[in-house]
Amino acid sequence: MDYLRELEGKRLHDRNPNDTMMMKSCKYICVPGPIIVGAGPSGLAAAASLKEKGLPSIVLERSHCIASLWQLKTYDRLRLHLPKKFCELPLMPFPEEFPTYPTKQQFIQYLEDYARKFKISPIFNQSVVSAEYDKVLEFWRVRTVGLKREETEYVCRWLIVATGENAEAVVPNIDGMEEFGGPIMHTSMYKNGGVFRGKRVLIVGCGNSGMEVCLDLCNHNASPTLAVRDTVHVLPREMLGKSTFGLSMWLLKWLPIRLVDGLLLIVSSLLLGDTARYGLNRPQIGPLELKNLSGKTPVLDVGTLAKIKTGDIKVSPGVQRLTRHTAEFVNGNSEKFDAIILATGYKSNVPSWLKEKEMFSVTDGLPKRPFPNGWKGERGLYAVGFTKRGLLGASIDAKRIANDIEMCWKQESKHCSSI
Ligand SMILES: Cc1cc2nc3c(=O)[nH]c(=O)nc-3n(C[C@H](O)[C@H](O)[C@H](O)COP(=O)(O)OP(=O)(O)OC[C@H]3O[C@@H](n4cnc5c(N)ncnc54)[C@H](O)[C@@H]3O)c2cc1C
Ligand SMILES: *[C@@H]1O[C@H](CO)[C@@H](O)[C@H](O)[C@H]1NC(C)=O
Ligand SMILES: *[C@@H]1O[C@H](CO)[C@@H](O)[C@H](O)[C@H]1NC(C)=O
Repeated sequence: MDYLRELEGKRLHDRNPNDTMMMKSCKYICVPGPIIVGAGPSGLAAAASLKEKGLPSIVLERSHCIASLWQLKTYDRLRLHLPKKFCELPLMPFPEEFPTYPTKQQFIQYLEDYARKFKISPIFNQSVVSAEYDKVLEFWRVRTVGLKREETEYVCRWLIVATGENAEAVVPNIDGMEEFGGPIMHTSMYKNGGVFRGKRVLIVGCGNSGMEVCLDLCNHNASPTLAVRDTVHVLPREMLGKSTFGLSMWLLKWLPIRLVDGLLLIVSSLLLGDTARYGLNRPQIGPLELKNLSGKTPVLDVGTLAKIKTGDIKVSPGVQRLTRHTAEFVNGNSEKFDAIILATGYKSNVPSWLKEKEMFSVTDGLPKRPFPNGWKGERGLYAVGFTKRGLLGASIDAKRIANDIEMCWKQESKHCSSI
């Protein structure tokens, strides 16, 4: 313990940015700065914001690359859903020449440049399997498992959770799933519709991913059916020559949320028509209010609705059960399908490894305190990227965390941990 304290004391006085390497003690790897779990955009944003203040950190990543969600689990035609100015990470704008909605490849390029610029070198192939505050040591103990099951234990004062709202695919349990004869795949495994040419494909779930995968299947001459169980707000991606998102944010500065919702719905119905006519019923609550209350994101239409109108994409009610060749819907109808794609979203995995149960809800793996207060927990625990506000939310978190740790670091007192 004294050894660790001493090490910490040394770090506090001697802040040489090149001196960020972890120091091996006989028992643990002692990390002088914070440990960041996850090398997605949030983890990179936190590491860069710290780096800018001269604070070293270590990033642990289970995958073999940065931004693994974007590199390994997204479809080819993906672009940022929101205009680039709402997706920037701290301290580095997107290149001028990028389009308003950068492609997935461009976004990955940006993130790689970002990591390079701030000299962030995550430790790859290291899954964090447990993190626990040691009351005796007054440090966090973070255990990882590598590809060959080799275990490592890190010890640090600050722990920054950046594993994301999308860490694990949500796979629903549909009656008869094992019986179904064709492939069943989550959207995280979907790349493009090439392999589905001429096939009847059922898409379960009508969020942004489900809607866009339908469009992609259509463009690859497959026959998609979108199974819609819940209500959904579909909005045009742009209205009145502005991005719907940007326009909404701007209007919210002046008008109450319900009025903005009213305006969005009027313009949407002018541009898109009555979506309920096509089987897409709107929730009772307006899109922005619903987002604020439940985190449910409205779908920003990128052309799917037009294909629904022409009948190229069919819309069905929710799925009741599957048999070998068919899906039976809740209205009793059934239809033949060759493949099923689950666009059923993602969930956080924090409860599976973080032993501290105060900050994060065990139910959904998100911070219990709502935005903008979810970023800070007790005893040097932080969260970045759990705001349900995409990359913009992550950037806000990252900057706050860096400021907070800097203050603590500067105070120099070893009793910092009583924050
Ligand atoms: C299809 C799609 C499109 C999107 N489009 C946009 C958009 O246009 N604009 C926007 O703002 N947001 C968008 N989002 C939201 C998206 O969540 C964010 O853009 C961003 O990826 C979040 O970054 P993150 O770092 O918080 O999480 P992630 O990108 O998921 O990164 C988390 C990292 O943590 C790693 N990890 C997880 N668990 C562990 C563990 N136990 N140990 C070690 N490492 C671990 C993962 O491997 C991953 O690399 C989109 C999401 C999806 C799925
Ligand atoms: C991580 O694992 C991959 C195999 O999945 C391997 O190719 C890569 O070299 C490993 N990287 C490191 C840094 O160990
Ligand atoms: C969002 O909801 C919270 C309560 O959950 C409320 O305090 C806040 O004002 C809402 N935001 C807007 C923009 O209405």
